[in-house]
Amino acid sequence: MKIGELAAHYALELEPLYDSNEAKTLFSIAAEKVLTISSGKLIIQKDLDISFVDTQKLLSILNDLKIGKPIQHILAEAHFYGLIFKVNENVLIPRPETEELVEWIISVCSKQLSVNSLASPKTLSILDIGTGSGCIPITLKKHLPNAKVSALDISPEAIAIARHNAIQIGVEIHFMEADILTFRSKEKFDIIISNPPYIRDLEKADMHNNVLLHEPHLALFVSDENPLLFYKAIADFARLNLNPTGQIYFEINEHLGKETIEMLVDKGFTNIRLRQDMQGKDRMVRAVR
Ligand SMILES: C[S@@+](CC[C@H](N)C(=O)[O-])C[C@H]1O[C@@H](n2cnc3c(N)ncnc32)[C@H](O)[C@@H]1O
Repeated sequence: MKIGELAAHYALELEPLYDSNEAKTLFSIAAEKVLTISSGKLIIQKDLDISFVDTQKLLSILNDLKIGKPIQHILAEAHFYGLIFKVNENVLIPRPETEELVEWIISVCSKQLSVNSLASPKTLSILDIGTGSGCIPITLKKHLPNAKVSALDISPEAIAIARHNAIQIGVEIHFMEADILTFRSKEKFDIIISNPPYIRDLEKADMHNNVLLHEPHLALFVSDENPLLFYKAIADFARLNLNPTGQIYFEINEHLGKETIEMLVDKGFTNIRLRQDMQGKDRMVRAVR
């Protein structure tokens, strides 16, 4: 089969689940991986014949896509901030909005480290809560190599994947298996970050099946009655475990920006900033102890 023919076959077969642009992107990701060629070459080489073996591999990926499996789970990897992370059904697939949160932290830390007002490069200490694949702490350590970075998650399976990713990417992170709702520590941090579960049960109805059926519910959902459960627990932890002028960064539910800020004000945080993601949705909050 030729590249162009298989691309058209993908578009046709994926029509019930994905629009034509999404189908093109999925074919491009799959073909780049299987044929080890760039997306630019894929477009130019539409008439190139694909070997029987590679055609079978690409058709097998298509079958998985048709049952709603995310491409990242099929290929067992996800791209995040220029790095490649192993993922499986036990961890959330890293999202672009989380890259924006990481970008914000890196830019603030780089500036603060250069004027040395937050901590000296050797002592900057960072904790990521609910680390999943480890995408946040690993990326931060890669860009802030002098920082001491720790991360925790309640899921032993997630911690195993995060450890694997840290080794593969070649950074040292201190991982802990812990429940943030009961976790206590004497350690102090300069920065605490979290992208905790924040989707209310009532929002399930609006979600795509490939998220609902294939991503871990432990990573996604909170009750309608107490949607800020994790934010409140992390804020309480941060009050005890942040150094003076230490900062907390959250990824948040786009519908709960106001409530998250009010909660942080009630708990005594200052300099609170709400940020939108690239789609203009309230998505990130920073606050100072
Ligand atoms: C939304 S995911 C975020 C994963 C990753 N940080 C990211 O941004 O892609 C939330 C994570 O919180 C973890 N989690 C859920 N309940 C927890 C708890 N009680 N204590 C610690 N971690 C928890 C889940 O296992 C999941 O990995």
